[in-house]
Amino acid sequence: MDKIVVKGGERLIGEVEVGGSKNAALPIFAASLLTEGVNLLTNVPHLKDVDTIVRVLRNLGVKVGKEDRTYRIDATKASGHEAPYDLVKTMRASVLVLGPLVARLGKAMVSLPGGCAIGARPVNFHLKGLEMLGAKIELQHGYIEAKADRLKGATISFDTSTVGGTENLMMAATLAKGKTVLQNAAMEPEVVELAQVLNKMGARIDGMGTKVIQIEGVESLQATDHEIVPDRIEAGTLMAAAGLTRGNIKILNCPVRHLEAVISKLVESGMEIEVEGDGIRAAGSKRIRSVDVKTAPYPGFPTDMQAQLMVMMTLARGLSVISETIFENRFIHISELQRMGAEIRIEGNSAIVQGVEHLHGAPVMATDLRASASLILAGLAAEGVTEISRVYHLDRGYEGLDKKLANLGANIKRVKAD
Ligand code: EPZ
Repeated sequence: MDKIVVKGGERLIGEVEVGGSKNAALPIFAASLLTEGVNLLTNVPHLKDVDTIVRVLRNLGVKVGKEDRTYRIDATKASGHEAPYDLVKTMRASVLVLGPLVARLGKAMVSLPGGCAIGARPVNFHLKGLEMLGAKIELQHGYIEAKADRLKGATISFDTSTVGGTENLMMAATLAKGKTVLQNAAMEPEVVELAQVLNKMGARIDGMGTKVIQIEGVESLQATDHEIVPDRIEAGTLMAAAGLTRGNIKILNCPVRHLEAVISKLVESGMEIEVEGDGIRAAGSKRIRSVDVKTAPYPGFPTDMQAQLMVMMTLARGLSVISETIFENRFIHISELQRMGAEIRIEGNSAIVQGVEHLHGAPVMATDLRASASLILAGLAAEGVTEISRVYHLDRGYEGLDKKLANLGANIKRVKAD
């Protein structure tokens, strides 16, 4: 397994581009199952998770062609209906093929995703919603078996905000008979982008980006073209890297309007963040100020930026309280940060971070996607050398982050496993 070796202390200076958004791309790949014809997706990031969703689609008889960051996806003759355990266990977002399969082919056999490092992450809202649309759901041997002659529109109210649940049911409802209303729907930019793509395919969706999404079912959807938006979490991660190294970087294609909560917290911590043309300049200050943060569904502070902000707070002046309200176990990075000298204690779903003068480099282990990014950030700011193992977690959601940081002046390299 490859390692990433970082020698801390270098300021990040220069310009950088973020890649296409992983969490926008994955549901849009799944949505291709609803269509006839060839979908053309561009600015698709080179990520392990994209490779996995492509394998899931090919396993369903979907034709997928790839040329660099452009994908041609033709589900005209999609025939299979199974998303097997060995694929779904490597990437739980594979469950997003469930709604499209039931809507388009009338049946699906999708492995239950199971839990992951950050939490149990059940899919009960997805299943309850599909049942309300008329699907017959059975759980057999770790698989979800879903059947429906034709889904019928319904009003579905989510107990709590779910990005995947909103996406799965919005996709299913596009081909249902009649009108579906999703109440307490997720408002994440990735949900809005999916709805826009579905409408380009011929769907009739209103209210995306609000708590109430309305979908008028249609008979069929046609393939479309789409350019994936830049990844807001990668952009936020790079801003935090600048903040940690007292750097000064320009992110050339930053999705600023999707990062308001993140930018507000980083400015509160002392960073200077200014829009410059269609990009954004992010500069770190001499000493980071401590800030409190509570993760929340969009437009609140994103849980996918919690670990990255926590690293900044380990070096802030004073005490910070970071509360994680979305996932029940998204503090795994804390024990690794403590090994680098961070002073953090956990109280319930909050981490109390006491800023220290320095972190020191150490061998650490990545445990999930955003935790691995946060350990790299810690290495950038630490004194000495940090070795991050199990970087396959990083490759799931960041394309060449080590190269991008090296181009900004970081002393970082990827060491191939022997
Ligand atoms: C999406 O996951 C993202 N993944 C996650 O990003 C992100 O952290 C999360 O949304 C929250 O913003 C993709 O888009 C591929 P949820 P998702 O359904 O859809 C509970 C990353 O690092 N819940 O909004 O799985 C669930 O357990 C990843 O890029 C149920 O209880 O998240 C969680 O506690 C990590 N029952 C909360 O809701 C359900 O049926 C939010 O989950 C569904 C969810």
